[in-house]
Amino acid sequence: MSDKDRTVPVGKLLAVSDLHVVYDDNRTLVEKLRPASDDDWLIVAGDVAEKYADVEWAMRLLSGRFSRVIWAPGNHELWTHPQDPCELRGEERYLRLVRLCRELGISTPEDPYPVWRGDGGPVVVAPLFVLYDYSFLAPGATTKEESLRLAHESGVVCSDEYFLHPDPYPSRDAWCRSRVEETERRLSAVDPSLPTVLVSHYPLVRDPTRVLHYPQFAQWCGTS
Ligand SMILES: [Fe+2]
Repeated sequence: MSDKDRTVPVGKLLAVSDLHVVYDDNRTLVEKLRPASDDDWLIVAGDVAEKYADVEWAMRLLSGRFSRVIWAPGNHELWTHPQDPCELRGEERYLRLVRLCRELGISTPEDPYPVWRGDGGPVVVAPLFVLYDYSFLAPGATTKEESLRLAHESGVVCSDEYFLHPDPYPSRDAWCRSRVEETERRLSAVDPSLPTVLVSHYPLVRDPTRVLHYPQFAQWCGTS
């Protein structure tokens, strides 16, 4: 390819999520994950791993291969796993992950939103971290308390309740409210003439949770 042909990037804006590299098969897949062109971007929409070192391994590998990597956290990165030497909790853990990404040149929800100018662009790619606030209530529930009670009674309870600490916020929903406010502020500053790709582990509409086998799990997924 001549230099002249390269003036318009030929790459693709790609996306993946839930790499869960704690599983050997997934780790092998990540090891094989390579861009098809020097201009490919990769969106990593959360749940890379639980342990800090595993997240670091995957993000370092991917950032070395793709022209740009964009990360938004899932719930698993935010767990304080009992066997993880990294014992940071809640917001401190999130900000440590942000620092790691920045060291690797990866865009996070705390950074300026990059503009994809390749195929289908220009488009603002906005990684979001909004968490959840239990507003996707379990069937039959009208409040968060009722929704959680129904989940506990059915035995379907997200491990976040034990490992995803909201510190310094009093609750995960309080952290979520703060994140939504901050995210709204950031998004309202985006150039309105450009379309956006919103990147989030946490859906802002309930529809994507309709496929769940246990509908009571939806309360740990997103926020309306
Ligand atoms: Fe998740």
